[in-house]
Amino acid sequence: MHVVSVQDFAEWRAKARPLLAGDVPPAQVVWNASDGQSGLFDDTPPPAGVRVVSINKDFLPLAENVALHRDGGKWALLYHAAYRLSHGEPHLLKLATDPLVHALAMMEKAVKRDAHKAKAFIRFRSIGDDTFVAWHEPDHLVLRKIGPFFARRFSDMNWSVFTPDESMHWDGETLSFGAGGDKNLVPQDDAQEALWKEYYRATFNPARIKIKMMKSEMPVRYWKNLPEAEIIADMLDEAPERVQAMLRYSQEIPDSAEPFVPESRCLEDLRHAAAGCEGCPLYKPATQTVFGEGAPDARLMVVGEQPGDEEDKQGHAFVGPAGQVLDAALKEVGLERRKLYITNAVKHFKFLRNQAGMRLHRTPTQKDINACLPWLDAEIEALKPTIILGLGVTAGKALFGPSFTLHGQGGRWHPKGEAQGRVTWHPSAVLRAPDAAEKEAIYREIVENLRIAASAAKKDGE
Ligand code: URA
Ligand code: SF4
Repeated sequence: MHVVSVQDFAEWRAKARPLLAGDVPPAQVVWNASDGQSGLFDDTPPPAGVRVVSINKDFLPLAENVALHRDGGKWALLYHAAYRLSHGEPHLLKLATDPLVHALAMMEKAVKRDAHKAKAFIRFRSIGDDTFVAWHEPDHLVLRKIGPFFARRFSDMNWSVFTPDESMHWDGETLSFGAGGDKNLVPQDDAQEALWKEYYRATFNPARIKIKMMKSEMPVRYWKNLPEAEIIADMLDEAPERVQAMLRYSQEIPDSAEPFVPESRCLEDLRHAAAGCEGCPLYKPATQTVFGEGAPDARLMVVGEQPGDEEDKQGHAFVGPAGQVLDAALKEVGLERRKLYITNAVKHFKFLRNQAGMRLHRTPTQKDINACLPWLDAEIEALKPTIILGLGVTAGKALFGPSFTLHGQGGRWHPKGEAQGRVTWHPSAVLRAPDAAEKEAIYREIVENLRIAASAAKKDGE
């Protein structure tokens, strides 16, 4: 019986290798999750000249993720899989129904989801001197997975993330990992933050300058008798701008769906993940995510603004009044809805409730558009349409940037990645137009643009 203690994936790998090479079956290995005090249960180093075991390359990324799972049983499962992969079952990982493969896949999924969540929910707080800290309680040991993401995103600041199990630190150059932290050492809520702010104001540069100034302006014998509380009160007058600026910087992490977007570029995977998106505050009051729908091989993608009241309730795009206008226009040009892919720039319904309790549509801001853009970009990457037709200025801004206007760039082709795109009126403009003549004119323009888009998509598809 081999008793092996292991702390992290690198150690597991190093220790599993000689066991596999020695054909030690899984039942003869006990894997202990060590507390970091190695030595006691260490196995002997591999004898010189052991044969090299090769394992299907798909195992490595899977194993790296599973290694971050909280369940200590992971090491034994990984060894079992490695053993089978290297002992006659090189394609084991393709057998999704195999209980071992399934268990590893579920563990990997849990770790990935937790890493996405950590990216979305970690909020840094300033502790002065351009240093920021965050407290997070992840379900799994995901810091190593998300570290590079934060290092890229906040490369010019000093920061630390503490979890109960481990911590990571960035000094502007190097990412390092250390022991877990204590929740009480990291400001987490506003009350605690206020305490921290006060404490750090006392040691903060502007405050120090203030003390120096006071010292120079006032005879020290008076100065030292000044009650401390008063000094702090005085500092509070001076330092807040700087503290506030830093806290704003910390809190101004832009809302974004990005942490929720999976790597997969399969529309069903995207739809599934988007259902749980909490990338911006719009998900809170809304009923559900309304994701794009349509033929996975559609050449033509239609992009609207955001779901409306009815879409929010039903969970499908363009099923309310604007959808009826769109349906009429589609019918007129002989386009079948199920042959297109229809989506929106923003995936949650943004609304205000009036006094009667009615939900009134609010136009998404550029901030809302930016937050949700990773979904639209992923949909475009997944579908690879040749033609994209935007409906309304929000779609235009999402597709072609914040300065897009219908008057400026509407009704013309613009390249959008590999595709060609154009933007026309939103169908609700027909509903809102003040008189019949204007309604008709807008509707005709939508029909005409649909016709042009459809025929271009057909040509490209041939
Ligand atoms: N308006 C849109 O832009 N999209 C919908 O799904 C419904 C109304
Ligand atoms: Fe996510 Fe978009 Fe919904 Fe915001 S609007 S929560 S980014 S899906």
